[in-house]
Amino acid sequence: MSSFKDIKPFAKPACASVTLPGSKSITNRAMILAAVAGGELEIKNALFSRDTIIMADCLKRLGYVVESDREARSIKISAEGSAAPNLQAELFVGNAGTAARFVTAFCAANKGGEYFFDSDEAMYKRPMKGLMDALREQGSEFEFVGQRDCFPFKMRAGGLAGGEVCIDASASSQLLSALLMAAPLAEKKTLVRLSKGTVSRPFVEMTVNMMTDFGFQCSRPADGVFEIVPRRPERRMSAYFVEPDATAASYFAILPALTGGAVLLENFANCSLQGDLGFLDVLHGCSLVGTSKILNGVLAVGAKRPAGNYAGGGINFSDISDTFLTLAAASAALGGNLRIEGISHTRAQETDRVAAMAAELRKVCLAVSEEEDALEICPHKALPEGISDTPVRIKTYSDHRIAMSFGILGCADIFGDGTPWISIEDPQCVSKTWDNFFDTLDAARVASEKFTTVAVDGGAAVGKSSVSKAVSDMLHLMHVDTGAHYRTLTYALINAGLADADEAAVEGYLSDFKLGTAFDPQRANSARMTLCGELVKDEDLRTKAVNDRVSVFASMPSVRNFLKGYQRSMASYAREHGFSGLIMEGRDIGSVIFPDADVRIFLDADEQTRAQRRAKEGISDSISARDRMDRSRKTAPLVCPEGAVRIDTSNMTKEDVISRTAAEICRAK
Ligand code: DC
Repeated sequence: MSSFKDIKPFAKPACASVTLPGSKSITNRAMILAAVAGGELEIKNALFSRDTIIMADCLKRLGYVVESDREARSIKISAEGSAAPNLQAELFVGNAGTAARFVTAFCAANKGGEYFFDSDEAMYKRPMKGLMDALREQGSEFEFVGQRDCFPFKMRAGGLAGGEVCIDASASSQLLSALLMAAPLAEKKTLVRLSKGTVSRPFVEMTVNMMTDFGFQCSRPADGVFEIVPRRPERRMSAYFVEPDATAASYFAILPALTGGAVLLENFANCSLQGDLGFLDVLHGCSLVGTSKILNGVLAVGAKRPAGNYAGGGINFSDISDTFLTLAAASAALGGNLRIEGISHTRAQETDRVAAMAAELRKVCLAVSEEEDALEICPHKALPEGISDTPVRIKTYSDHRIAMSFGILGCADIFGDGTPWISIEDPQCVSKTWDNFFDTLDAARVASEKFTTVAVDGGAAVGKSSVSKAVSDMLHLMHVDTGAHYRTLTYALINAGLADADEAAVEGYLSDFKLGTAFDPQRANSARMTLCGELVKDEDLRTKAVNDRVSVFASMPSVRNFLKGYQRSMASYAREHGFSGLIMEGRDIGSVIFPDADVRIFLDADEQTRAQRRAKEGISDSISARDRMDRSRKTAPLVCPEGAVRIDTSNMTKEDVISRTAAEICRAK
């Protein structure tokens, strides 16, 4: 009996940061290239997963010293010379395509070696022929236990002769990558020619780029032709840093399209070698998610249930096929028809992914049609329509990507009450590339559901309001503009004939003054102060009279004390109204009102920029005079609170400031 994991939907919009694991493809390439280069290399930010452990184990069996430190994400590989120390070994490659192909080609270079290879049964069916034909041509011989050109087999390594060699890598780009990475061990220069095209071309780019990084010479004299110089690098590096996994990023990048909110993908902007980065463009193209680069990360932002804007057209996933499952599964809850093309080669991956996805998607979609190279998905208009028996049990065929894709789909709160509706079979199969994926997903949900207080402070015209409003909409926070509180009181005092009153008179006036709260009719997420149950019109709060007096009243301790209690009560008001948190803007929010706020932001901009921004809004306001008063007053002066995140917005676009602020909130969760 398989075990199942029920996926808990996100009851609140996503608001979390995720640290991505290192890339599997890069970790396993780095290990084989370290072996080809010889000497000692530390692989940093390495992925620890079934496939990389299998690769490390193969190298150990071949006589390399491999020191793994999971906590530190480090793998050290060392050996004398570049050929494998052991001329005989029994190797097991599991269902790891990279290890299966890369280790076979690497061992073939070790003339006189005799190696026995076995694998998981699923690997028995995956393509090896193209590589084996090329290795035979180069001098090696194979004996098969079962089917010809399949695992398990024995290889008598004949070395790599070099010269011209043709390879059919149409079934998998790994067949080509394997040959390229072993070719520096050949006796003479190797000219590899692709006899047909190949799939997943970005992975070939990755191989060539990494070979160059490692100091090998691999050039491309013509399309589909690779020339490799038989030499070990002169200058060997001592450490290699593995990029975070771009395919893994796809799951959390699409999450906000299903849940609303935003997810910060830590470190992701450092990625450059991986084709699956292109998945973000697909999401953009489908209007499913907005993304922006923030420092080292990428912030993915989505609106809940966008109208599926990709109906009819087909998306070709040939270059980024590992991510087709991510979009295919999510599409069940997105309402638009979707056609995915260029995926026939994925029928020979961990499982027949086209058939498996079709079978599982049928459980949650109106109709799914399967073609040799394509899937056409017609989801229900709006789930939970069509879903009766919950949870829907998703078979995962020992395929980590099926488990992760449907795991993300299950985060959509289709019943609106947090009822789990997707259950994933054998959730542990994700260990192939991300062993704590489901823990990471649980943590992201818990973080998203945690109530958050955000303080945004800064002088006049730094953009506090526009940024706070946009962030409140993005993350479903209740927005409160405390400048409006001071303006409302000033308006009331002026109307009561107290424009020039001293503090004692103001205190007397406030002693039986009743404040109320209402949501802005124009902005459902903004809570505003009412006077006698009425909202004061915005234009009445921005008259010259109010502008001239507000800083004077705001400097009176009795006024500030009077508002302190009211402003603090806004946190429970936001909770009572079901918000994910509160974002309050002003001058003393992070220093006085909520010094313990989860996130404290201080926005700043040079005076010229601020004056220009105000002028653009058509407002003439003596910003510097007000700022001077706000900064110099005795009670709650405008300061950047200690420990707050200071953002100088002078040279930033509004969108950048919004993303940066949202990223800080995601990160603080
Ligand atoms: O953000 P604003 O321009 O609407 O603010 C109006 C005035 O209110 C400003 O000059 C300073 C004062 N204020 C304050 O002292 N403390 C706050 N938390 C918010 C505003």
